[in-house]
Amino acid sequence: MNIVVLVGSLRKESYNMQLAKTMQERYKEKMNLEIADIRSLPHFDQDEENNPPQSVKEFKEAVSNADGVVIITPEYNWSIPGVLKNALDWASRVDKVFIGKPVMALGATMGMLGTVRAQMHLREILDAPGIQARILPPGGNEVLIGFAHQKFDEQSGQLVDEGTLNFLDSKVEAFIDFVKSQN
Ligand SMILES: Cc1cc2nc3c(=O)[nH]c(=O)nc-3n(C[C@H](O)[C@H](O)[C@H](O)COP(=O)(O)O)c2cc1C
Repeated sequence: MNIVVLVGSLRKESYNMQLAKTMQERYKEKMNLEIADIRSLPHFDQDEENNPPQSVKEFKEAVSNADGVVIITPEYNWSIPGVLKNALDWASRVDKVFIGKPVMALGATMGMLGTVRAQMHLREILDAPGIQARILPPGGNEVLIGFAHQKFDEQSGQLVDEGTLNFLDSKVEAFIDFVKSQN
């Protein structure tokens, strides 16, 4: 199973990027998680959407070829970061590579609410006509990691909190079943 991962933080020691890397290693027998380079995407420009820069072409192709997409987002001012919205805007135009794509959303923050507001925005965006992703249904499947600084190991950067890892295992299983049922 080939899954593209979008991470909404560009910070070197990002908890959300560390979560992506933890998942890459922990679930490598079950799926191949490829982290997309959304940093190199230029700002969306509608004048360029029909013949976009190479980085955009490659990003859209990766999403198009994937069995599903995992989106891991911090919360910036109660929403998703601009770099992630920018990637979704490119993906929403011309060939609309997200239509019907199974998506799992996760997020980590040092705050208490675990990116819930950002993820609510994200779900609205993923429902837009140019995107129309198939989002893992929310009932119990939201992965909201609050107090991230207490759950990741400072040295290795890995997610080490047992309770969170157990919860994540069950949600990843749900996503794998969801992807199989959609493809
Ligand atoms: C511009 C900005 C806005 C932020 N807004 C929120 C917010 O609305 N809610 C929240 O829980 N955390 C907020 N934070 C704190 C981030 O959740 C925290 O910095 C987190 O570590 C970012 O994710 P990262 O570690 O993957 O970079 C904000 C941080 C920044 C830099």
